[in-house]
Amino acid sequence: MKKKTIKVGLLGFGTVGSGTYRMLTTNANTISYTTGVSIEVSKILVRDLSKKREISAPAALFTDQPDDILKNPDIDIVVEVLGGVHPAFDYMEEAIKAGKHVVTANKAVIAKDGPYLTNLALEHKVALRYEASVAGGVPILNALSTSLQANEFTEITGIVNGTTNYILTQMAENDMDYETALKQAQSMGFAEADPTGDVEGFDAVNKLSILISTAFGLRVAPEDIPREGITNITKEDIICAKQFGFTIKLLAQARRYRNTLECHVQPAMVPLDHPLATVKNEFNAVFAKGNALDNVMLYGKGAGAMPTGSAVVGDLLEIARAYAVGTADKTIPTAVNDNVNLKFDGEGQNMYYINLLAEDMTGVLGKIATTFGDYGIAVKSFVQNTASKQSGRYVPLIYILGETTRERLNDALEEISKFTFVKEIKSVISVAALD
Ligand code: NAP
Ligand code: HSE
Repeated sequence: MKKKTIKVGLLGFGTVGSGTYRMLTTNANTISYTTGVSIEVSKILVRDLSKKREISAPAALFTDQPDDILKNPDIDIVVEVLGGVHPAFDYMEEAIKAGKHVVTANKAVIAKDGPYLTNLALEHKVALRYEASVAGGVPILNALSTSLQANEFTEITGIVNGTTNYILTQMAENDMDYETALKQAQSMGFAEADPTGDVEGFDAVNKLSILISTAFGLRVAPEDIPREGITNITKEDIICAKQFGFTIKLLAQARRYRNTLECHVQPAMVPLDHPLATVKNEFNAVFAKGNALDNVMLYGKGAGAMPTGSAVVGDLLEIARAYAVGTADKTIPTAVNDNVNLKFDGEGQNMYYINLLAEDMTGVLGKIATTFGDYGIAVKSFVQNTASKQSGRYVPLIYILGETTRERLNDALEEISKFTFVKEIKSVISVAALD
């Protein structure tokens, strides 16, 4: 029996687009015998036709005209791996309206307009899949929406950005400086076109918004998620963290308490014996707590050409297999968000690590402790780092504080910073609340 051939239009041939193409061509035989369909890439949209490319494809496939894909009646599935919101969103919308199935790795678009595009896909009876948009090759969205779907989740905590995890790992383990580590992450294809999205936490916020929709059925817009990136993390913080038994990771976390959901993206001290502490470089991991399964953690490469290509091609094949029997529109992974039993309630409370520089004189410790106490903040542990006394006068004071809101902490720190004996509040980093 002749196998069905499904035609694909690739929007983009950068890190992910070329990884997707390579995966489709390298594993063509496996794909064909496991799915019963053949996949043929018919056209590839790029911006610059004259660019030299590390991974080659026949020159005739390349075009700089989006209509060669979007208005091509032979193309069944459009894979969007351009990046950015526009024109990526517009092309996906047009493809869906033209009755084409869509696969994307674009977390910016899905976090912003996922519910609209999902509804549009349902209306036009086509599939929209976006596994690669969260944690690269780690199949977390599929797991949450299929095998784990019977669970009621109380927590999702993830390291979901490969670039920042690569930088923090290199700073901690190879004494590399921030700029060099960022440049390496860019050259390996992990970073966004504008790496500000990675290092300032915007990319992780987009991914957390998608995870929250998938796990909790609640829509929290990316701009509403409290966010902090890694640009203020210093080598001194990393060394101090180690002394206290922690490593610093950029965590995306959502926690459910009865009918409320708290969430944030921020650098956090993770205990060295927690599984998330062992997630290094471009690897990602998502740790979920369900009421039936309890704890589960999915781990793997969160960025890069082939790991992300693996997730894109996985989605493609899911659609292709269903398309061959006429049920592709039933493969949409996530319901449109409408969990009326759950309300978003901001950032919540966290424990914090504080490193401040103060004069080495009598009465200082008492005044600082009293101020924290006045704001209802407990001091859980404290170290006066006399060994690194600076300029003969100032000494680093390191506190681990009990749970408090960021707002209350900021008020307490503002008052503390007014003491004449306080030179500088050097670092404020959350301490992760983890099982
Ligand atoms: P990239 O390397 O910058 O590649 C982008 C590709 O799209 C290039 O081939 C570029 O053409 C093309 N392109 C961009 N804008 C275009 C336009 N207006 N018209 C025509 N072509 C255009 O990006 P990437 O790293 O592959 O990322 C693609 C998407 O996947 C993003 O949404 C990203 O967030 C997501 N993602 C990336 C990774 C990763 O590890 N990199 C992992 C998961 C998800 P030229 O080649 O001619 O410049
Ligand atoms: N820039 C992203 C990261 C790509 O570093 O995780 C994968 O989504």
